[in-house]
Amino acid sequence: MSQLLLDAVVEPTEAKDTICIRAADASDVESLSIYFTRLSTTTRNKRFMGARADFAVVAAECVAKVSHPDHFTLLAEFRQEGRSTIIGETRYAYDAIARHGDFAISVADIFQRKGVGLQMMTAMEKHASHLGHEMIAAETARANAEMRGLAKKAGFEVTGLGGWQSVHFAKRLSRQPDAQ
Ligand SMILES: CC(C)(COP(=O)(O)OP(=O)(O)OC[C@H]1O[C@@H](n2cnc3c(N)ncnc32)[C@H](O)[C@@H]1OP(=O)(O)O)[C@@H](O)C(=O)NCCC(=O)NCCS
Repeated sequence: MSQLLLDAVVEPTEAKDTICIRAADASDVESLSIYFTRLSTTTRNKRFMGARADFAVVAAECVAKVSHPDHFTLLAEFRQEGRSTIIGETRYAYDAIARHGDFAISVADIFQRKGVGLQMMTAMEKHASHLGHEMIAAETARANAEMRGLAKKAGFEVTGLGGWQSVHFAKRLSRQPDAQ
C-alpha cells in the first residue's frame, strides 16, 4: 500500500459502518509497520510503554506468532472505495504459567474516542474465550486515562498497582456457547 493512499485517509466522522475487525496475518507486516510509523509519538509511547523506533520489527513481531494457537493480533480496518487502511491493532498472548491472556492495544489518533478500541476489546475477549481462556489481565501506566477508561468500560477491574507507576487490571471471561 502506498504512502499516498494512506495520506488520503478520510475524515473519520462517518466511519462507523465501514470499520471491520479481522485477524492479522503475514501479509499485514508492511501496512502495520506504516500504521505504527504514523501514530503520534504520544500514542506510540503509550502503546509500547516507552519509545520504539523499529516499527518494521515490531510489526513483524505482531504477526510472527499468529500461527501459534494462543497468540493473535487483531486489526481494525477502515474500508472505503475498495481501499483498506489499518486504524487500530491489538496484540494478544496467553501466558500458560500465569493462566491468563495479556494484551496491548492502539487506535490511530484521528479515530480515537469513536468506539474502535471497545470494538477491538470485545472481539479480543470473544476470540480468547473461544480458545478456552478464562482470564485476561494487563498493565498500563497509572497516568493513562484512556486505557484505564477503556478497560473500565470493557468490564475490567483494577487488581493492583505495579512498579514504574503502572496499574494492573483483569477480567474473567464468560464462556462462549460454542467454545470447546
Ligand atoms: C486506549 C485506546 C486504545 C482507546 O481506544 P479508543 O478507540 O479511543 O476507545 P473507545 O472510543 O472505544 O472508548 C471507549 C471508552 O474508553 C474510555 N476512554 C477512551 N478515551 C478516553 C480518554 N481520552 N479519557 C478518558 N476515557 C477514555 C471511555 O470510557 C470511552 O467510552 P466513552 O467514549 O463512551 O466515554 C486509545 O486511546 C489509544 O490508542 N491510546 C494510546 C495507546 C495506549 O494507551 N494503549 C494502551 C496501552 S497498551
